[in-house]
Amino acid sequence: MSKGKFISFEGIEGVGKSTTINHIKKFLEKKDIDVYCTREPGGTNFGESIRNILLNNKSIIYPEAELLLMFASRNQHIEEVVIPKLEKGIWVLCDRFIDASYAYQGYGKKVKSNKIDLLVKNFTKKIQPDLTIFFNLNYDLAKKRFPKNKKKDRFENLDNEFFYDVYSGYLELVKSNKKRIKVVDSNQSKEKVCNEIKKIITKTFKNFNI
Ligand code: TMP
Repeated sequence: MSKGKFISFEGIEGVGKSTTINHIKKFLEKKDIDVYCTREPGGTNFGESIRNILLNNKSIIYPEAELLLMFASRNQHIEEVVIPKLEKGIWVLCDRFIDASYAYQGYGKKVKSNKIDLLVKNFTKKIQPDLTIFFNLNYDLAKKRFPKNKKKDRFENLDNEFFYDVYSGYLELVKSNKKRIKVVDSNQSKEKVCNEIKKIITKTFKNFNI
């Protein structure tokens, strides 16, 4: 049996990743592909506990401690979920992965990239997405989409400057990983975004006759 494919989805908050991921899941399932959706931080019981701490407004967490928690969650997720699913031939769709650590903790919180490199090298079992979709929407546009009545989490409460840095960080990551990261203009209808992603997936995995 061939291994499953690993696709990650990235972008700043408010770009509409979650609903799109569910559409992509259905699209692939119609092509008889087994699909598993997951997320980071989280994706396991242990990881979801860490996620609660990370997103809780009451938590006081310094940038490097935050980075380590992201990787504790990620390491568990890779061992418990990602590798076993891929080995069973299941495709894994992951809402955020390693790129988010470079964008948020690196570019956003100014943790040095060599510290992130070290964690990637030693604690991620060499797992890299086969394809990453970057939902491209700048912060000023994304912010307009934030639900008005939802209580903001610890990240959503950060200031505009932080998100400008995260967004430009993502653009840098796109530039240096052109083959893996594909950009989708998210300033258009969800339907159009979905169709673009479907085309990218069909092209990237042409051997699978999607
Ligand atoms: P989510 O609500 O989009 O699932 O993401 C939770 C938050 O965690 C989001 O603000 C981005 C942040 N995050 C990081 O800061 N570093 C990471 O490595 C990951 C995976 C997420």
